[in-house]
Amino acid sequence: MAEINLLAKYPKAKRNVAARVGAKAENRLLAMQFGREYFDGTREQGYGGFRYDGRWLPIARDIVEHFGLKAGHRVLEIGCAKGFLVKDLMAVCPGLEVFGIDISEYAVVNAEPEVIGRLHVGNATRLPFPDKSFTATLSINTVHNLEQGACVRAIQEMERVAPGKGYLQVDAYRNADEERVFLDWVLTAKTHGTPAFWVELLQRAGYNGDHYWTILELDREWTITNV
Ligand SMILES: C[S@@+](CC[C@H](N)C(=O)[O-])C[C@H]1O[C@@H](n2cnc3c(N)ncnc32)[C@H](O)[C@@H]1O
Repeated sequence: MAEINLLAKYPKAKRNVAARVGAKAENRLLAMQFGREYFDGTREQGYGGFRYDGRWLPIARDIVEHFGLKAGHRVLEIGCAKGFLVKDLMAVCPGLEVFGIDISEYAVVNAEPEVIGRLHVGNATRLPFPDKSFTATLSINTVHNLEQGACVRAIQEMERVAPGKGYLQVDAYRNADEERVFLDWVLTAKTHGTPAFWVELLQRAGYNGDHYWTILELDREWTITNV
């Protein structure tokens, strides 16, 4: 189990934390449905427009290199949303068989044309695939959306379908300031904590894959002008 940041090339987002605080409870309920509002509603409700822009291409190259992926290998992304990473993995590694699963019917129905038929609606806690059926699994910013027991089950499922060959990234905070930004910004996470909390949880789940954290940083520009 290694700590490695495969999302090092993901662009940094501007976050107007203050704007989200107002209608947080209402927006949280809406976001947790993972429907149109979460993906393509306002920034206060979720992504504020979830559109393909090629940002996953350099990350896809790093994932291919990290796992030594080749044509014919099979990769599953859990929490694939509209399939941007699925599409880019296939683009950078022709012949790689990439599939995705997501709880959101909205995301799967509005997937990128290149991945239609490769994405399925389903729950991370119960993957409809045999043991050891994938070369690698990826799950990025998804399993923290589950209650702790279900979160552990989802991590065990990753391990079951691709033992020792997972990449899991989850939200975390290292101190009280980061925790405050996290609580103000994040709409859907139900299981969260420090990296040490997560390492203990991953061990408890018997996870042998790799992992890293998404840590929200305070954007000084937004806070100064908008608080
Ligand atoms: C923050 S988004 C991340 C999407 C994508 N992995 C990315 O990094 O851009 C979380 C995704 O997890 C999905 N999700 C939430 N709960 C899930 C569950 N129980 N099983 C599968 N997918 C789930 C949501 O629909 C959403 O697409």
